[in-house]
Amino acid sequence: MTRGKLIKELAKKLYGEEIARKLWGRVEVIGDIAVIRKPPDIPVDMLKQLAEELLKNLRYVKSVWASVSSVGGMYRTRDYVHLAGECRSTTIYREHGCSFYIDITKVYISPALNYEHLRIAKNVKDGEYVINMFAGAGLFSIIIAKHAKPSKVVSIDINPYAYEFMVKNVKLNNVEGVVEPILGDAGVVIENYINTADRILMPLPELAYSYFEKAVKALRNRGVIHVYEFVRGSSRESVINEVISKYLSKCDELSIKSSVIFSRIVRSVGPRTYQVVIDLDVVKY
Ligand SMILES: C[S@@+](CC[C@H](N)C(=O)[O-])C[C@H]1O[C@@H](n2cnc3c(N)ncnc32)[C@H](O)[C@@H]1O
Repeated sequence: MTRGKLIKELAKKLYGEEIARKLWGRVEVIGDIAVIRKPPDIPVDMLKQLAEELLKNLRYVKSVWASVSSVGGMYRTRDYVHLAGECRSTTIYREHGCSFYIDITKVYISPALNYEHLRIAKNVKDGEYVINMFAGAGLFSIIIAKHAKPSKVVSIDINPYAYEFMVKNVKLNNVEGVVEPILGDAGVVIENYINTADRILMPLPELAYSYFEKAVKALRNRGVIHVYEFVRGSSRESVINEVISKYLSKCDELSIKSSVIFSRIVRSVGPRTYQVVIDLDVVKY
């Protein structure tokens, strides 16, 4: 039985069909920690039974937490309540052959970006100079360093915890000298990298647009910028088109040539709301 199906069955047995439907799809496993995203109308105490069942049925899970807020704040973290098992929020999360120390309460982490992490890494050409403006605990950067041959991946994050985990993760994955963690505001740090990068990642929808011009300045004559945005819209096609026209207009305004070489919906993040990525080929001169 798949993990998803098992969780559905456990929830159905404990709470009945109607509540099980609300919990279905709300359990994420990060390393040996399971996180249940609390539905708004279900009290947190009610989730304790499910947490105990997860511990019994998923042997690799040692700790279960409820996330009780959406992602928020400058560091893009959630609020958590411990439900069962070890009261520990640190773990080692594994993805694409890389390992990441993280603390779910202190740094952003999302297994839903799994596909995207490898997709970008596969696009990186030998010798490229990459800047990751919003690097978190270093997932994109380290996966790029492991699966491609960049000359450098400058990895910026404003969260001191994310920076510390990134430093540890660089060592853990033996990518010192390639991935360079930097603590700071990407909008300020990137000013030290004018005309330097072949590729820039902007995996923070809240700041991508306002920092886009700074990213363009950090590119060499020509390069690729990966932009992530949240959009609400009536269809998947319309939200992608909205992001494309927003950035093509911005490029016109900045008098630079650009074309969209790839676009996709990364995931659904709410009712009719999606995270979209577009890859822009930018020619400055
Ligand atoms: C969505 S998370 C990044 C996810 C990460 N790239 C990954 O794949 O797991 C966004 C990150 O941007 C960081 N951040 C927020 N504002 C920032 C800023 N002005 N400069 C640099 N980092 C910032 C947050 O601390 C957070 O770690």
